[in-house]
Amino acid sequence: MDLAMVRSLLPAHDILWFDRVESTMPLAARLAAEGARHQTVVGADEQTAGQGRYGRHWHSEAASGLYFSILLKLGLPAETAPVITLALGLAVAEAIEERCGVACDLRWPNDVLIQGRKCAGILVQLHGDAVVAGIGVNVNQREFPAELSSLATSIRLATGREQERESLLVALLCAIGRLCDTLASEGKEPVLRMFAESSSFVRGRRVKVDQGGSSVEGVTEGLDGSGFLLLRRPDGRRETILAGGVRPAG
Ligand code: BTN
Repeated sequence: MDLAMVRSLLPAHDILWFDRVESTMPLAARLAAEGARHQTVVGADEQTAGQGRYGRHWHSEAASGLYFSILLKLGLPAETAPVITLALGLAVAEAIEERCGVACDLRWPNDVLIQGRKCAGILVQLHGDAVVAGIGVNVNQREFPAELSSLATSIRLATGREQERESLLVALLCAIGRLCDTLASEGKEPVLRMFAESSSFVRGRRVKVDQGGSSVEGVTEGLDGSGFLLLRRPDGRRETILAGGVRPAG
């Protein structure tokens, strides 16, 4: 990773980068506790214990992806966290489309897909008034472990071309900055609208939502004002989905 180039293009960001860590999440949490600045970034070329949502492992092959956590101090109430997650998904999709020329879909709440397979994920944790957002992007992986191969993809696999991680990181940090500014100055509404416009999962999609042990099925009917997913059940009841793994049904 050519950090000199990244730092020269983003002089306002504090960027720490390691060759190999267990996970960037606890490192960023520690920086948050120590009072690090808004948009401080902790990244690594490899993670040996990358964390995904619901305690899952995030595959973090050396020098193939972007693995970083960013500290966000937006001064917004904790209830804004779901919309921050949506904003980060939008930022990832925007940066991939701009730098790599490949269209992305967003699967509520925070998966970025290319051709139906996951190429990036976001993990948001609250630490006091700071948000630690972990972002993993599959950039140049040529293959994945057997258990992921039907679910995951990389930008390289989707485009057939090796991608430059540095310029994607710069584009992504700029997009995060822009979306945070939008959230701070205009509130949730534009982010909710952009997410709904960019995701094929938000409206009119028959889905199954896995909620750890149980699941619900229905047709999606948009987002509520907090960023939660609205689902019409087969019996006609409307349900608000607060969390869960969304998959196309049947
Ligand atoms: C998900 O399950 O979709 C969220 C994946 C988040 C992975 C990123 S990689 C950088 C940061 N460090 C971690 O250990 N996890 C996040």
